[in-house]
Amino acid sequence: MRHIIAATDGSPGANRALDLAVRMAKTGGCELTILTIGGTIPGAELRRIAAADGDLSETLVESANQILERARKRAQRLGMTVKLQIEWGDPAETIIDTARRENADMLVVGRRGRGRLSAMLLGSVSQKLASLAPCPVLVVP
Ligand SMILES: Nc1ncnc2c1ncn2[C@@H]1O[C@H](COP(=O)(O)OP(=O)(O)OP(=O)(O)O)[C@@H](O)[C@H]1O
Ligand SMILES: [Mg+2]
Repeated sequence: MRHIIAATDGSPGANRALDLAVRMAKTGGCELTILTIGGTIPGAELRRIAAADGDLSETLVESANQILERARKRAQRLGMTVKLQIEWGDPAETIIDTARRENADMLVVGRRGRGRLSAMLLGSVSQKLASLAPCPVLVVP
């Protein structure tokens, strides 16, 4: 195993997945990329940004960067240097495309993310990844 991708939306579930990805990458001596798919901001937050003054595209980039920087710090505390990557689009589709393009050997994701309304056991992103990803997917509870 050479390259692990941990996908994060900044949620507690994604953080747990990231911690495990870091431990696995360290143990296995693999490269670790932290990937976030930007642009999926809840409506209420969008409204607040628009009301504040906001340049939407700048805000989306900032929000994605903030998620990645927090994740980088988390990995650093565990002693791991990581690569950061932002992509844009439908989260599941884009994670799958990226895993394929970057030749990922494994994807690590949380069981749930920031979405709160769904009664499903698995989030829709982790569910799609488990079904469609080109590599093994580790879904962390
Ligand atoms: N935008 C994203 N960028 C990167 N990874 C993501 C993104 N969204 C979700 N993930 C990954 O998928 C995991 C599961 O999140 P998912 O979105 O499937 O659950 P949810 O937000 O609870 O449900 P839903 O989005 O279907 O309402 C997250 O813990 C994270 O690892
Ligand atoms: Mg989600």
